[in-house]
Amino acid sequence: MRSPRDFFRPLAIGAPDPLYVIEPIASRMIHFFDPSNPRMVAKMPSIAPTVDVLLGNLEDAIEIDRKVDARRGLIDFARSNDLGATSLWVRVNALDSPWNLDDLTEIVSEVGDRIDVIMLPKVQGAEDIQYADRLIAQLEARARVQRPILLHAILETARGVANVEEICIASPRLQGVSLGPADLAADREMKTTNVGGGHPGYLVRADPENRAYAAPRQTAQQDLWHYTVARMVDACRLAGIQPYYGPFGDIDDVVACEDQFRNAYIMGCVGAWSLHPKQIEVARKVFTPDAAQVAWARRVVDTLTDGAGAFMVDGKMQDDASYKQCQKILRYAELVEERDKLVAS
Ligand code: GLV
Ligand code: MG
Repeated sequence: MRSPRDFFRPLAIGAPDPLYVIEPIASRMIHFFDPSNPRMVAKMPSIAPTVDVLLGNLEDAIEIDRKVDARRGLIDFARSNDLGATSLWVRVNALDSPWNLDDLTEIVSEVGDRIDVIMLPKVQGAEDIQYADRLIAQLEARARVQRPILLHAILETARGVANVEEICIASPRLQGVSLGPADLAADREMKTTNVGGGHPGYLVRADPENRAYAAPRQTAQQDLWHYTVARMVDACRLAGIQPYYGPFGDIDDVVACEDQFRNAYIMGCVGAWSLHPKQIEVARKVFTPDAAQVAWARRVVDTLTDGAGAFMVDGKMQDDASYKQCQKILRYAELVEERDKLVAS
């Protein structure tokens, strides 16, 4: 049992106060880089202004004997680069790995004031978030970090999906959740081998006409991630935090990547990971609100007069609920516009 009054108290004496509200920021693309690779690191100062979030990856995709180099590389990078309006995040190794304790300890102790969000992989339940929450609070207190470092969970185990609601409300430090389709597919024993995306075998087929079972019939591939993304979006919105699509591994298939990102966007996600510069533009295109939709939303909002129940715009019935959708779209568009202006100035 825990008193609701304690929820927003720091978990260590001297740690910064937790935030009541996680103010949404434009985070259309979370661009991954390998901090153990000096050539890649050297490119990041010029990539940074083109992305909303830059993330140093310490977990999967970093070779075991480069784990320490990656951690130290990230710390050096954070110390020596001011990214301006671009957020700096880090993906640490999982809590059950041999590297997590040193990842959290060294990063929070040495560059805690420069890291906005720590992405925690393979989160299984609220207990993982509560453990990381307390440890980070202790480290923040010792390092005199001034503002709370936020946490972001990757949804990539069957247990994590079963517990997604409790994960999202486990701590005021939680900023958002990303779908981790590759690990999730492995954990669920799905019969796929990709990082994100679909499978041609997962389809629906039109019913036969006149029992002509062998005749050609239309099929349409279905989205493997629909259920998980929907649950993740609901859990995140319940908790007042942000949902994201994760990685799409087939770098050359920008068309399918765009479709996956767009499905997630329409369902409520605010961004996705980019694993390659090509995907930065895909994410920008998808997660930047469409000008025609924004103009429509503006018309609906401007047409409403006080106390109107139902009203018509271009023959389409509008009411309180469609008005609210339009307001949300306008608010999101402002957020993105503010971010783009900040970068351009
Ligand atoms: C991301 O980490 C994934 O497993 O998809
Ligand atoms: Mg993973």
